[in-house]
Amino acid sequence: MNLNLDIIVSLAKRRGFVFQSSEIYGGLNGCWDYGPMGVELLNNIKNEWWKSMTYREDVEGLDASILMHPKVWEASGHVANFTDPMVDCKECKARFRADQIEDSMCGSPAYKGRKASKCQAEGKFTEPRNFNLMFKTFLGSVEDSSSVVYLRPETAQGIFVNYLNVASSSRQKIPFGIAQIGKAFRNEINTKNFLFRTREFEQMEMQYFVKPEDDMRYYEFWKEERMKWFTDLGLKKEKLRFSLHPEDKLAHYARAAVDIEYEFPFGWGEIEGIHNRTNFDLTQHQQFSGKSLEYFDDSTKEKFMPFIIETSAGASRSFMTFLIDAYHEEEVKGEKRSVLKFHSKLAPMKVAVFPLVNRDGMQEIAHNITEDLRKSFRAFYDDKGAVGRRYRRQDEIGTPYCVTVDSQTLEDETVTIRERDSMEQIRINMNSIKNYLLEKLN
Ligand code: GAP
Repeated sequence: MNLNLDIIVSLAKRRGFVFQSSEIYGGLNGCWDYGPMGVELLNNIKNEWWKSMTYREDVEGLDASILMHPKVWEASGHVANFTDPMVDCKECKARFRADQIEDSMCGSPAYKGRKASKCQAEGKFTEPRNFNLMFKTFLGSVEDSSSVVYLRPETAQGIFVNYLNVASSSRQKIPFGIAQIGKAFRNEINTKNFLFRTREFEQMEMQYFVKPEDDMRYYEFWKEERMKWFTDLGLKKEKLRFSLHPEDKLAHYARAAVDIEYEFPFGWGEIEGIHNRTNFDLTQHQQFSGKSLEYFDDSTKEKFMPFIIETSAGASRSFMTFLIDAYHEEEVKGEKRSVLKFHSKLAPMKVAVFPLVNRDGMQEIAHNITEDLRKSFRAFYDDKGAVGRRYRRQDEIGTPYCVTVDSQTLEDETVTIRERDSMEQIRINMNSIKNYLLEKLN
């Protein structure tokens, strides 16, 4: 199927996954709100990541603050280097990334559909200048240069500056990791492709601290683990690939780096980066803070600066990837069926319960079943419209199972359970629904 991103954006709005931020005011560029289904899906993705990362011996969790000491960003190199080259159009005042003009369109409504490269050829653009992507704000009541702080552009730095606190409080020994999920902010010049490049987003990052000589072994290990996480949660293998950063394009701090990429409707794009960051970050923070960040190995009595293997995924970008990958269109009895074939662990709603018709006490039975199921997972009650339409509504949000109470239920206490992907139905006793679903969903 040739999937157009507009189909996903429209379904996301219609079914309560994602809304444009501040929509009634015309929207805020590069910012999105997660609706009732979206927040469930996002939480499920984050929970699965958190479980896979921290339900192990050697990784601890952390939740560092978004605002950090401004020196952190000097040490990390973000103040000097976290920039994109940009140009302004002298005529329409639109701003473009100098390295992406070929892909951009003119910002003037009067020239709708005109390529920005044409405006450039006509000499309308300023010379490129560097634009720092960090959002600046002020700490406290005085707005001067001494009170400047930044909204963090990545969660990683909160981990680096805390690694000795975590190691000593949790008695972890190298090799060990620290995992964190949290918001990050980047004042991207060009936001585009729905949730792919936004100004506010969430990251799921893990930094793994190793002996310098073990770095490449753990880099390879985490590379495979992270790819497996995406495929275990149902992403199609043929839509995923590793993309190795060539040596001459490596970031200044990296010895090796690879992206996990997904084939989106607009082409291949990074969803996660796995980086061997060497001892760059800890060395920088040691120098800028004046505090020793070396690790002392009790067993060998050695002191050394650990190397760091980083796994850095976007939660928001993963959300969009799971949404796109789950989307299917099928023809059923001459009609189009749109269905989100989410892995059951990610599906926002696990089960829907319907009375076939609204009489003979079927509604009450269906209500009671729903309430009982809600003690174990998200369940939805629906008695509006024809049952076929109710199935379609659940297909569009990816609900794996639908339970229907019908006239036979009144006779023998059985219900039908319909499975989303095969659309097959079985009949089981009402008392067995929960166990049946618990087994299927897990
Ligand atoms: N600490 C390393 C780091 O932040 P990155 O490649 O800049 O590396 C990691 O970002 C991940 O964060 C990306 O793979 C992507 O999933 C997500 N990400 C980065 N910028 C983003 C943006 N503007 N909007 C949405 N997600 C973004």
